[in-house]
Amino acid sequence: MSSLSRRRFLITAGLPYSNGRLHVGHVAGAYLPADTFARYLRARGDEVLFVCGSDDNGVASLISARKEGRSVQELTAEYNQRQRSDFERLGIRFDVYGGTHQPEYVEMHEKISQEFFRVIHEHGHFVKRTTEQLYDVEAQQFLPDRFVKGTCYHTRENGSPCGYDGAYGDQCESCGNAIDPMLLVEPQSTITGSRPESRSTTHWYMKLGDFDQPLREWLTSNRTAGPDRPAWRDTVLNFALGQLQEGLPERPMTRDLDWGVPVPLDDPDAEGKVLYVWFDAPIGYVSFTATHCQRETGDWKNYERWWKDEDSRVVHFIGEDNTVFHALTWPAMILAEGSHRLPSQVVSNAFLNIKLAGGDETKIGKTKVAIWIEDYLKHFDADPLRYYLTAIAPETRRTAFDADDFVARNNGELLNALGNFINRTLTFTEKYFEGSVPEPGDRTEVDLEHLNRIGAHAERVTEQLEAFHFKAALEEVMALARASNGYLDTKQPWKQRKEDMAACGTTLNICLQTVKALATLMAPFLPAMSEKCGEMLKVQGFPWLEVGVELPPGHELGESGILVRKLEADEAGRL
Ligand code: 2FM
Ligand code: ZN
Repeated sequence: MSSLSRRRFLITAGLPYSNGRLHVGHVAGAYLPADTFARYLRARGDEVLFVCGSDDNGVASLISARKEGRSVQELTAEYNQRQRSDFERLGIRFDVYGGTHQPEYVEMHEKISQEFFRVIHEHGHFVKRTTEQLYDVEAQQFLPDRFVKGTCYHTRENGSPCGYDGAYGDQCESCGNAIDPMLLVEPQSTITGSRPESRSTTHWYMKLGDFDQPLREWLTSNRTAGPDRPAWRDTVLNFALGQLQEGLPERPMTRDLDWGVPVPLDDPDAEGKVLYVWFDAPIGYVSFTATHCQRETGDWKNYERWWKDEDSRVVHFIGEDNTVFHALTWPAMILAEGSHRLPSQVVSNAFLNIKLAGGDETKIGKTKVAIWIEDYLKHFDADPLRYYLTAIAPETRRTAFDADDFVARNNGELLNALGNFINRTLTFTEKYFEGSVPEPGDRTEVDLEHLNRIGAHAERVTEQLEAFHFKAALEEVMALARASNGYLDTKQPWKQRKEDMAACGTTLNICLQTVKALATLMAPFLPAMSEKCGEMLKVQGFPWLEVGVELPPGHELGESGILVRKLEADEAGRL
């Protein structure tokens, strides 16, 4: 494998709203592929900072706090902790996990968000407008974003009307388009259920249209691979370029709320107003990096080497409903501010549905159907879920979580192909070679062919990971596991043992080299299993570029153990 020079990556995964629990859809959409990629890069020796944290501001948390009858600070602190713990237990390892309104992060977040706003204002990309907005008379407040619901007025890409009746005042989660709340059909306050009236208020609108041309050029250039990145996914580009056809509208970037980042202008009209949550949330990626740098290096300004240096690549992992913000609004903000790097990649996944017992598929969240991570972890280990969610990854289209399929694939693929090969190899070595790596002896054509196969699979796993094709990369790992079982069955060491112990040693030597290679290649996907292999092989860490470096003969192994638990068919019922 080629040893490319050390690269620098700032990786982000969409900041989850800290107003609820995480479900499998969240994990499949953004966090798992991001973690897989970060782990691969770290193993490869690249410089990586993996940044995430909670999206605490905005109306979503206010609504939940109101419903639960407690303060929004308390609510977001609780969910920040619970989500952080879910991620940890799933092996999703951020270098920093902040929160836009969490005590250790809020000060830096406000400072950097306000600076962004001020600079964009100075650069002339805001216009102040007084317009009619929806107002709830009973609650005595304006109704930005999720405080209002109604029927979507957009037309889908195929020309049919969207008509989704649960569209929020900022975005329609069905067609993915941004919403102007004044255009919603039959608007309704989500606070009191009443029909709002309109009243005038003043806000700062960002002239996103100022960036139509540079965004179009930049997005179009991402259709083909660049020197340091693969081509972007078509789903992201088609959506974003489609939006640009009509030109981007002005969008209000401030709100009438008392929770969020205060508008940093010396203007009486700014009083009592905060930045729009979708203005400050992506800046969270930057501000959490800065807090991390302050902590690690004593100088927050060091965040610039991740966000401003030409050498650094910023990669955003998101779910499909975040595409408009990461491929258009946030890049427009970056262009308007002028000193930060545009993302090198926006990796967006489609939604993950759930297959119901009768075979129908439903959207997660609808009719309260979901598989919550907290519940999953009460019964199962992390890696089987990581395996399944990558195997069915909604990379190009929506896919569905099917509990029976989860159990079937755990047993039929993870256990049968991968777990069994490793288990067979290690127990055999323990039994007949005193738990140490046998001499390689004379390698036959079949042996050499298998060793070459390891190299070829490793190359392809690498290529697929570099292209953000996680599902295909995992398939390559599994294909190697299956081929390795085939090798073992062809060589039949249980027979060789009786006839030619040296030849048997050669087979096991190669099997052990394969286990080491598999442990290396599975590590980004199945970190706990890879670590366990490390203990069983008595090897510390599996550097990616050393995948072909062999364990020396005589190397002593640890104790073998169970790598994958067989699941009973009825365990699907626990999900
Ligand atoms: O859709 C969501 O869950 C949003 N909270 C994602 C925000 S991503 C960001 F920070 F830009
Ligand atoms: Zn819609």
